Amino acid sequence: MKFNQDDIKQKRSHQNFSLISAQKDATDFNSLLDYLNNYQHELKSAITNYGAIVIRGYQVETPEQFQQVGLSLFPNLQNQYPGGAPRQKVAEYVWTASELPSYLPISGHTELSYSPSDKPTHILFFCPQVAASGGETPVIDMKSVLSDLPARLKHRCSQTCLAIKLFWVSTQKRLFDVRLWKWPWFRSPKPWQAVFNTEDRDVVETKCHNAGRQVEFEWLTNGDLIASYSMPIISPHPTTKEMVWTGWFPRFHIWGCCIEAWFVSKYQGKFRSWLVFFILFLITFVQICLEKLIPGCRKYRVLDVTFEDGSSLSVWDVYHIVKSYWQNSELLSWQEGDILILDNYRMGHGRLPFTGKRRVYTAFA
Ligand SMILES: [Fe+2]
Repeated sequence: MKFNQDDIKQKRSHQNFSLISAQKDATDFNSLLDYLNNYQHELKSAITNYGAIVIRGYQVETPEQFQQVGLSLFPNLQNQYPGGAPRQKVAEYVWTASELPSYLPISGHTELSYSPSDKPTHILFFCPQVAASGGETPVIDMKSVLSDLPARLKHRCSQTCLAIKLFWVSTQKRLFDVRLWKWPWFRSPKPWQAVFNTEDRDVVETKCHNAGRQVEFEWLTNGDLIASYSMPIISPHPTTKEMVWTGWFPRFHIWGCCIEAWFVSKYQGKFRSWLVFFILFLITFVQICLEKLIPGCRKYRVLDVTFEDGSSLSVWDVYHIVKSYWQNSELLSWQEGDILILDNYRMGHGRLPFTGKRRVYTAFA
C-alpha cells in the first residue's frame, strides 16, 4: 500500500498493528474527518493488510465523536450487542469496553468467537482516558497463535469443535464461580432477559434462529436457561480464506482466569497482580474440590466448555493456548484519543489490569 507522506501524516508499523499519527498542525476532530473522507480506501486497505490500525494524535474526546469515526469507515456499525459481557451502552453504536474490575485481567479472544453468526467482522476501541499504570490492550495475531500451538493440540483442535455452555440460572450456588469473583465477594451476571432484551422465551429462540446461531436451548422449569453453542476452533478467514485460530476465550474454562493471571503476574511483577493470582487460584481450587465432592455441582458453573464429544480441555491445553496468545501479542499502551480498529477474525484483544481511572469504549461492525 502506498501512502502519500504529506497527507497521510506519519505511519509506523509495529509487529501487530499499523500506527497512523496526526500531523502537529492538523490534530482537531474536523481534520480527522477530512482524513477519513480523503483516505477511506487506503485506511481500509491498511486494516485488511495489517489486521489492525491505531489512529493517534487527533482530538477525539466523546463517544459520539468515536461513533462518527466508526460510521465513516463502517456504515454497518451494530446498535445491538448480542453477547453476555458486562458492558454499558453510552451512545447509539457505542458501549463501554468492559465493566470488569481494574485488578482483573481479560484474557485474549476475538469478540463473540463462541457465536460465529454474531461475530463482528471488525471491532473498534477508543480511549478517552488512560490508566495511571497498566491497562494495555494486547493485540494478538490469531494466525500465529495457531502455528505456535503444540502439534498434538493443533491436530486435536483441527478435528473437532468446542461446546460452549452459558448458564443463565438463578441459583445462589453458582455465585462461587471464579468468573464471578469481584472483591470482596461475587457479582451477579446478566440474566438472559437482559442479554436478549426480552422476557419471552419464544422471542429468544426466534431471534437466535433468525440470526443463524447454532445454539441449543435447555429451559428449566423455573424459567432459567442453559444455552449451548458449538464453535469451531480453527476456521478460514472470511475474506483471505487463511486458516486462523478463531479466538476462543480462555475465561470459558474453569482454570482460564487463573492461567491468564499467572502470565500477567509474571509480566507486571506487581504485588497486586500476584495477590489476584493467588486469590483466583484459591477460589478455583475450592470450586474444583466442591465439584468433586458434590455430584452435579458442575452444573452451577456460570460458563463451561468441553470438546464437542464431551471430553474436557485439560489445564495444560488452556495453558498452551494462553501462552500462545502471549507469545503473539503486541501490547498497545494507550494514549488519550487513540482509536484502535481490529479485523476481528485476524486479531484478538484482551486487557491487562490497571490502576487509576481508565475509560475505553467499543463499537462493532
Ligand atoms: Fe472483547
